[in-house]
Amino acid sequence: MPIDPLKIREDFPILKRKVNGHPLIYLDNAASSQKPKQVIEAITMFYENHYANIHRGVHTLSQEASEAYEEAHAKVARFISANGSEEIVFVRNTTEAINLVAYSWALRQLKPGDEILTTLMEHHSNIVPWELLSQLKDIHVKYVGITKDGVLDYPEFEEKLSQRTKLVTVVHVSNVLGTINDVRRICRLAHEVGALVLVDGAQSVPHMPVSVKELDCDFLAFSGHKMLGPSGIGVLYAKKEILESMSPFLGGGGMISKVRFDTSTKKCKIDWNVLPWKFEAGTPNIEGGIGLGAAVDYLSSIGMEEVRRYEEELVSYALKRMSELEKIKIYGPSDPRMRGGVISFNLEGMSPHDVAMIMDQSGIAIRSGYHCAEPLHDAMGIHGGTARVSFYIYNTTSEIDIFINKLKEIEAII
Ligand SMILES: Cc1ncc(COP(=O)(O)O)c(C=O)c1O
Repeated sequence: MPIDPLKIREDFPILKRKVNGHPLIYLDNAASSQKPKQVIEAITMFYENHYANIHRGVHTLSQEASEAYEEAHAKVARFISANGSEEIVFVRNTTEAINLVAYSWALRQLKPGDEILTTLMEHHSNIVPWELLSQLKDIHVKYVGITKDGVLDYPEFEEKLSQRTKLVTVVHVSNVLGTINDVRRICRLAHEVGALVLVDGAQSVPHMPVSVKELDCDFLAFSGHKMLGPSGIGVLYAKKEILESMSPFLGGGGMISKVRFDTSTKKCKIDWNVLPWKFEAGTPNIEGGIGLGAAVDYLSSIGMEEVRRYEEELVSYALKRMSELEKIKIYGPSDPRMRGGVISFNLEGMSPHDVAMIMDQSGIAIRSGYHCAEPLHDAMGIHGGTARVSFYIYNTTSEIDIFINKLKEIEAII
């Protein structure tokens, strides 16, 4: 069924509010999405009826909470076509998922002289962990550039990929340019030299069908809060055999099956818990996981093909209307089929922060700044950042019209 945005909007209570006297137009979905009542109710229902700690008690509430939390893993596994829940580790967000790979896999597996290949299109969360790692180990982080159209430079990628590359870590959809990277091709090329691939799916999993089987990626990181779910919950997917070979990064309760004190060696002997619990130390974000499960249900009921189709329609419309302005510079691929629901731009003669502040006075929420991707802005020669609009299933072409009218008003006063 084609998306009916007006019907969808009824599920999102926040969209009824006014900001600065105007109906809210929320165009900051790449930063975080709004939440439907189905997600809010799932969390309230859990608190009101089933709340207890998980995996710790034989009592009814603990059993119910454990089942709901485990079922959320299973929903996420189906959503990204993983083999099962054992490949789904709940973490706080994309950032934590990437750090988990850095400290549990890369720190232990990489040898001096090994290389990590990444791109200049990355969010800081896929740059800083690797630079930190290179301070702990003699490894090299190499960056692949982008073309002037905002597309990954694939010839440069192939040139820099070598037998020394042990990990390729790449964003699926750029949160600045919207560029959709050919992750399947990247995985194939990386695997040919024996490297593993980590995909930053923060901007892809919420907006398009993502199958880890089709991509054949080794790791996939994403955040619940960008896909209608609560904040504080995110996912690391990894192939089972890789997770099995990895040691945990955080130690504590829940991630062990046995800890025994050996009186002869005077040391504790530890057996890890089964997957994925081996990587979920301590009391997890139970309600967050359950909320994420409800978000996955909500998106699945629409269908991710349809989510993608509708967003492409919105982006196509927005790009066309934005090009009516004379003083605008739009970044990233011009073909809407090559980009996700993100458009970064600048108006000549006005800072992106001023554009965002003026928009806010009319109830229009857009983002301004470097969007946690300063190296990308440097590579594109942009100083002072960009303004960014980003769409989701509840946005409409009428909202885009209001945004364009405001942009035109701003252009007229520059
Ligand atoms: C492409 C990309 N990667 C990673 C992140 C980090 O996500 P989080 O802050 O949820 O860890 C973001 C957030 O904006 C992003 O857009």
